[in-house]
Amino acid sequence: MKKRIFSGIKPSGDLHIGNYLGAIQNWVALQEEYDSIFCVVDMHAITVPQDPATLRKRTLEIAKIYLAAGIDPKKCSIFIQSYVSEHAELAWILNTIAKIPELEKMTQFKDKSVKDGKESVLVGLFDYPVLMAADIILYDTQLVPVGKDQKQHIELARELAQRFNYKFGETFVIPEAYTKKESENIMGLDDPTKKMSKSAKSEYNYIALSDDAETVRKKIKKAVTDSGSEIVYSDDKPALKNLINIYSLLDNKTPKEVETLFVGKGYADFKSALAEVIIQFLEPFQKRMAELSDEKVLKILEDGAKKVQSIAKKKLEEVKKKIGFIV
Ligand code: TYM
Repeated sequence: MKKRIFSGIKPSGDLHIGNYLGAIQNWVALQEEYDSIFCVVDMHAITVPQDPATLRKRTLEIAKIYLAAGIDPKKCSIFIQSYVSEHAELAWILNTIAKIPELEKMTQFKDKSVKDGKESVLVGLFDYPVLMAADIILYDTQLVPVGKDQKQHIELARELAQRFNYKFGETFVIPEAYTKKESENIMGLDDPTKKMSKSAKSEYNYIALSDDAETVRKKIKKAVTDSGSEIVYSDDKPALKNLINIYSLLDNKTPKEVETLFVGKGYADFKSALAEVIIQFLEPFQKRMAELSDEKVLKILEDGAKKVQSIAKKKLEEVKKKIGFIV
């Protein structure tokens, strides 16, 4: 039996190459070997105030991004989270074994509390990691391919699965995070000490998956670099290391091979080559996205939901029986 992987992306804000390299690029490779389930997690997107029309548009857009990136609906199940109500039901049950201090430790809650005050945090945002745990363990997921920022949530999913198993008997598989060193934390182009982020203040922080060639050239030209002039891959040069990582991941080379390509050359040569590598990835990707009709994508999402629903239903029934519900 193939091992199962599950992952998802929130339809909130523009996706950037950090999301692609940290998550989707790995999914595309893993789908060959694993029983793969990829979700557009719309129920997570409503944990912050949002506009319904924009949410609808973004939900379809994320599904198109999955498909244009190479996720193959013949090999995987792709679906919208809110289509499968078992996610919400299991989250409620897990709420009854999750503890407030566990959720208070979560980075997103802490950041928002510091930034806007605890009073402004909605219960949905506070509880979001429990819903994420439900997403994962509902499918007996073994591996969860994500970026580094999600590892904390997967730790909680492991903890809740173990706690449930201990209280009610063996029910859930204990999931593990899957990350790759070079891609788990793509940093901001304007500040290599912080991760590339959808919610960054400056658009010079990220390359959006929707950026055109000119914008990419402009952003890479402005990207901060370290002191010195040689193209070296080293922890002492975090800005350059990040740019080399992006180059190597998009051009299927090791960081060492990228270094070798630029021996005797300076930052300007490296940056203009990097911009072209990004454009060579983005242009065909954007073309594939534009060719996908809403109808076709909706059909894929409905088929995907049907495929996963039977797994979700069976697992939830088992859970309900174990906790004493009459099913
Ligand atoms: P989200 O939507 O914020 O991010 C989607 C994916 O992109 C990764 N990522 C990055 N990877 C590398 N470098 C970066 N700078 C970077 N920024 C983002 C994230 O780690 C993530 O893998 N809670 C999740 C969505 C979710 C989920 C799930 C994921 C809900 N349920 C179940 C896995 C399994 C989130 O908000 O990701």
